[in-house]
Amino acid sequence: MKIYLTTPIYYVNAYPHLGHAYTTIVVDVLARFFKLKGWQVFFLTGTDEHGDKIQKTAKEKNKTPEELVDEISLAFKKTWDYFKISYNYFIRTTSSSHKKVVQTLLQKLYEKGEFYLDEYEGYYCIGCERFLTSKELDEKGQCQDHKVAPIYVKEKNYFFNLEKYRNWLKYYLLHHEVIYPEFYREEVLNLLEEELPPLCISRPKSRLSWGIELPFDRDYVTYVWFDALINYLTGIGYPENPKWKDWWIEAHHFIAKDILKPHAVYWPIMLKAMELPMYKKLLVHGYWLVNKLKMSKSLGNIVEPIEISEKYGKDQLRYFLLREMAFGYDAEFNFSNFVQRINADLANDYGNLIYRSFNLVEKYFKTIPEASSLSPLDEEFLETVKKALKDYEKYFLNFQFHRALERLWQAIRSANVYIDRKAPWELIKKGAKEKAGTVLKILLEGIKSFAIALYPVTPETSQIILKTLGINLNSVTWDMVWNFSLLSSSTTISKGKPLFPRIEMEKLSHSITKSSTT
Ligand code: MSP
Repeated sequence: MKIYLTTPIYYVNAYPHLGHAYTTIVVDVLARFFKLKGWQVFFLTGTDEHGDKIQKTAKEKNKTPEELVDEISLAFKKTWDYFKISYNYFIRTTSSSHKKVVQTLLQKLYEKGEFYLDEYEGYYCIGCERFLTSKELDEKGQCQDHKVAPIYVKEKNYFFNLEKYRNWLKYYLLHHEVIYPEFYREEVLNLLEEELPPLCISRPKSRLSWGIELPFDRDYVTYVWFDALINYLTGIGYPENPKWKDWWIEAHHFIAKDILKPHAVYWPIMLKAMELPMYKKLLVHGYWLVNKLKMSKSLGNIVEPIEISEKYGKDQLRYFLLREMAFGYDAEFNFSNFVQRINADLANDYGNLIYRSFNLVEKYFKTIPEASSLSPLDEEFLETVKKALKDYEKYFLNFQFHRALERLWQAIRSANVYIDRKAPWELIKKGAKEKAGTVLKILLEGIKSFAIALYPVTPETSQIILKTLGINLNSVTWDMVWNFSLLSSSTTISKGKPLFPRIEMEKLSHSITKSSTT
């Protein structure tokens, strides 16, 4: 089995914030999950480096566009490397390989007669890097996402007739489950009820020089979205690498709802016109909000992912992001939610279970005990864990991460109930050491399954847990979650330090959001 996973390529006009980190972490979690399941994974991320926005930011900072894009692209790469994001390739749209692919495809479309020159006037939002329709403006006539009025532009440009493909796209989306969650598919189908305006695919060099030259008219550069979307092909070696198509038909694009239209309307139509197959899925999530407003550089309410991870841990942040946001919907980021989740789920439920179990084994057995015959309560507990793991896997395959984690936590909580009901410390006092050993062996097998299942979400702590249990991460596969007699009795257990220390509320004196980053 193969899967090709992509994040958006991020604009390099500002440093990465938690919103960018969310999409990238979601894709990393899935890449790790599918690899555990033995799938071949190709994971692409990168930076979108052309366009008005970049040229404007460079000017404001007294830098050349080249200096700006090199600096901020590196900051994205460093951030993903800090988070040990398992991407296979980091694409930059200023690379010569990407420029070549864009120009080849533009030339092909030009020769097919897909472009025409025309005079255009309209309202352009630099933040969105696209013309907005009147419906996309708020009551003040501003862009709803960026809260700024779009600029009026009138110029001669090349256009692409999207309308020609509207019915094809409508039919395709109606008959294929491409867009998830379903309500975004509905949103796109609604958009396709009305005529699509032509897409302006060029910018005159006299106004914007920072872009890829049109191969058929050197007075123009390519519209940044036309350039950017093609990264998904360049990233897998299109057209030279003969394997590109095998990956392409398994393409899963992860985005937030801000860029739904370019991905769900422009991109499929571009592919159709280029006579290339459609991607497989478009997975759309909501926004991280701070006080009900979208977290963004332009609104000045961003959270820095490295800073928060340095303080509270990378796995803690990954868990929080995946658990707190219902994929598709908006979620509020605030410290109180963050601390509550870490303390309740990770420190209390999961961390305590592990610490208590390891502590008892170290104290009374030193090595992993053997299980003797299982009581109905032991069997019942293992059944609960198996069922939760089945659902966890199912939810993961449906991209419902918060549900998956919520379900797994039911099993983690039942493990805490099981240990309390069985009270192995009492059994030892009563001289029933063998029975206590069985309980602890079952618990350690359960913890092993939790640690494997959670490896995609909390890789660092899972690795520590599995190492303590004598399991080498490189040999781990998903199927091991079902095996409750996996652990070797020759493994010596040492409880180590608590993996998820509680966060003390009183220590949180600072505010997490920043008013400006760059
Ligand atoms: N360069 C384009 C994408 C081109 S893809 C061919 C772009 N870049 S961006 O830097 O603005 O990134 C937008 C993406 O960043 C969102 O779609 C989402 O993945 C992520 N997010 C940025 N802010 C976010 C939130 N506040 N909340 C959730 N995700 C956010 O658009």
